[in-house]
Amino acid sequence: MVQLYVFGHPFETDAVVQSVSETAGNPPIGTIATTHGFSFTHTLEAQDVVYGLGEANRGINKRGFRYVNHCSDTPSHTEDLSSLYAAHNFIVLSGTNHIGLFFDYPTTITFDIGYTQQDTLSVTCDSANLKLYVIQGASAYDVVKEFRSLIGPSYIPPKFAFGFGQSRWGYKTRKDFERVVQEHRKHHIPLDMVYMDIDYMEDYKDFTVNSEEFPDFPAFVQEMREQGVHLVPIIDAGVKIEKGYPVYEEGVQKGYFCKREDGSDFEAAVWPGLTHFPDVLNPEVRQWFGNWYRVLVDAGIDGFWNDMNEPAIFYSPEGLAQVKTSMERYLADSTGALSHHSVLDALNRLSNSSEDYQRFYHKVQGEWVRHDRVHNLFGYNMTRAAGEALAQLAPDRRILLFSRSSYIGMHRYGGVWTGDNMSWWSHILLNIKMMPSLNMCGFLYCGADLGGFGCNTTRDLLLRWLAFGVFTPLMRNHSALGTREQEFYQFENPQDFRHIISVRYRLIPYLYSEFMKAALGNDLYFKPLSFLYPNDPLACEVEDQLMIGNEVMVAPVYQQNATGRYVYLPEEMLFVKFCPDGTLTQTVLPAGVHHVSVALNEVPLFIRQGHTIPLAQPCETVADLSTQPLECIGYSGATYTLYDDDGMCRSCTLEGHTTILIKE
Ligand code: GLC
Repeated sequence: MVQLYVFGHPFETDAVVQSVSETAGNPPIGTIATTHGFSFTHTLEAQDVVYGLGEANRGINKRGFRYVNHCSDTPSHTEDLSSLYAAHNFIVLSGTNHIGLFFDYPTTITFDIGYTQQDTLSVTCDSANLKLYVIQGASAYDVVKEFRSLIGPSYIPPKFAFGFGQSRWGYKTRKDFERVVQEHRKHHIPLDMVYMDIDYMEDYKDFTVNSEEFPDFPAFVQEMREQGVHLVPIIDAGVKIEKGYPVYEEGVQKGYFCKREDGSDFEAAVWPGLTHFPDVLNPEVRQWFGNWYRVLVDAGIDGFWNDMNEPAIFYSPEGLAQVKTSMERYLADSTGALSHHSVLDALNRLSNSSEDYQRFYHKVQGEWVRHDRVHNLFGYNMTRAAGEALAQLAPDRRILLFSRSSYIGMHRYGGVWTGDNMSWWSHILLNIKMMPSLNMCGFLYCGADLGGFGCNTTRDLLLRWLAFGVFTPLMRNHSALGTREQEFYQFENPQDFRHIISVRYRLIPYLYSEFMKAALGNDLYFKPLSFLYPNDPLACEVEDQLMIGNEVMVAPVYQQNATGRYVYLPEEMLFVKFCPDGTLTQTVLPAGVHHVSVALNEVPLFIRQGHTIPLAQPCETVADLSTQPLECIGYSGATYTLYDDDGMCRSCTLEGHTTILIKE
């Protein structure tokens, strides 16, 4: 059951697609105050678990921390960080009752989930103009499914996007890209995508390609395709200010950029230097900006990643002027009264500053809306612009699209990657914990930078992370400029990497089926154990194991130098290891706690009692994946419903695309 409570005059975010009539009176739980901004307060019972918040820090159970949903360009995801790139304002309180709460509110909102007071949930924001959806169900899982049908179907990428992608910030020349492909092919490491970071562009200008390096870009794209590789370029939010650059010229002339209060176009420095932000909250601008993707689609491109769309601001001219003033004051001070901290503080406040977010405006239905009042909707609408346009440009096929920043609603247009993580062991665990929460908020096509983006990776970290990445729909190795090179062929024994990636390809029939069932049935691809074993108190506390689809459980190793790990089985399961020589070990383990050994070059998974999963033969691209014959592993006599399609149809249904497999 869904109830809607409306406070003040909410901004229409288009997060929800179902029409729900407003309920009068007070929500069934919580105390609401609207005198100073908005606050929702509710007392949590000791046993209540709080799920949700999508891309957020910490655990699957969100209790015990304060999360500030404010889309932020934050490169260092330490444990105390309260804001990441996304704002997914949906939580589920699960205890005696199971209640979902979606605070549909376009800017900064704080979820204090037992941080200030252990037993108190308080959700607060500055303005009492919002919609609150309250969903009651028989279980947390039920509530999530209801929420998912409220917000509409999740984005479905083309099937090739379930292959492996190699990326690095710094690939610049034709040779750089060719080398990646050659090395993967040479070592027979499967590969379907190579990502193009900002250096493919001409001076970081969106929808341009460096013509010196790529004199005939469509031919290059085609050449790569012939080797089975899709190039996936990045698109950034800021449009470079440069005379003669058509995107800039046209945007200025049509008045399509975000404006300052005085009507001039707001300027923000990002990678290209000073840029303007397209006003993607305006549908006309969305159509215009989205149409620019055509330049690359016409060149044969069928995948994009949208970045810097919180939007990230390195500095604004106004902010820089303030820093200069504070420096001048400091230098002119001969009394020693001014500390160098005044300058340092000013410098630290320069990027992504709240003052800058108050300096520009969007035009929404003829009204000017200051950016800070709708901040969390920018990345969503940039990706929506792309998604809507790509549906027009390529009506008969799916295009790969994912974004760094997002808000609920964006899940209908694209997936997400979890931004600039680090080559830290703790970030494997964070990756594991974030996936089911993202699914709860509709984001099914998701993944992290495997091996870690920032810092220098190590071979063992990369191998362990990949063994989990085998199961994330988006499987991409991405790293930052200046860090240790992280392609598999940079390390000793690349065959270990080949093996792990090959297992991914062998599992695609299962992973794709489960993804499609989740996408088409408003269900989850990643589930916490508690969603399947709600009556098992031990299962309910497990946060480092996940259910993948309906058949499989994973328990990744995320500790350096470990030769295995402890795992909790809520029921009997078949423990399967994919060994580097191509064989499988299969051991039935009874319910309970076990220590399982897993070598660095093995991929472990668990099949639930009475279930079976399909396995394809190894291959090097998704296009070469053969589903006939499929091998089945698991329990004899068990059946599996396989979903398959041509990998690109936009209006697919479960009916007509499934076959039943039986394990002999
Ligand atoms: C941002 C992105 C990262 C990318 C870099 C350069 O930090 O999050 O993935 O490599 O910008 O474009």
